[in-house]
Amino acid sequence: MFDYNPCLDETLRLKPAVIAGGYRQTPPGGLWFDERFAPSDTTVFVPAQLIQTDGRYWPPARVFIPERFSSKSNDLSPPCLPFTLGRQACSGKNLAWISMRSTLSKIAQHFDLSFGPGENGEYFDTEALDLLYDGGDPARGAAR
Ligand code: HEM
Repeated sequence: MFDYNPCLDETLRLKPAVIAGGYRQTPPGGLWFDERFAPSDTTVFVPAQLIQTDGRYWPPARVFIPERFSSKSNDLSPPCLPFTLGRQACSGKNLAWISMRSTLSKIAQHFDLSFGPGENGEYFDTEALDLLYDGGDPARGAAR
């Protein structure tokens, strides 16, 4: 039987539904993020897609390789957090997984999919924009 889970995991790594996790405020005293300091009460967010497509953690980062998720461990690294982590993480995660599995399996059973004329998937992959951010500077959480 075909295991859809690694395909969904890998899709959520490359194209997370929530590109950048929810906003948070830094605690009193502020927080260090590597070499950057954010003072207390600063609004910050985790750029999930940027982290999940960082070649340091996921080489080759932009390539769709579901097998990366075939053998799951409890190890939290390399980072993949499409539902974010901790207390404010997605409370609909289990329902989302059921829904994704059943949708994908229905599509696979009932449709033959192919790219439309003139499409090869590249445009969607390279030109899709995250409208929340203006692109370009990874330190600013750009989507590309
Ligand atoms: C693939 C599907 C989904 C993804 C990738 C996703 C992702 C996320 C993420 C990243 C957050 C955290 C936002 C933050 O950090 O503030 C979140 C929160 C939340 N999600 Fe989802 N979600 C999905 C589906 C669902 C579904 C199906 C439901 C409910 C039916 C749901 C309900 C919620 C709720 C209630 C929260 C807020 C949790 C809280 O603040 O305590 N999500 N989701």
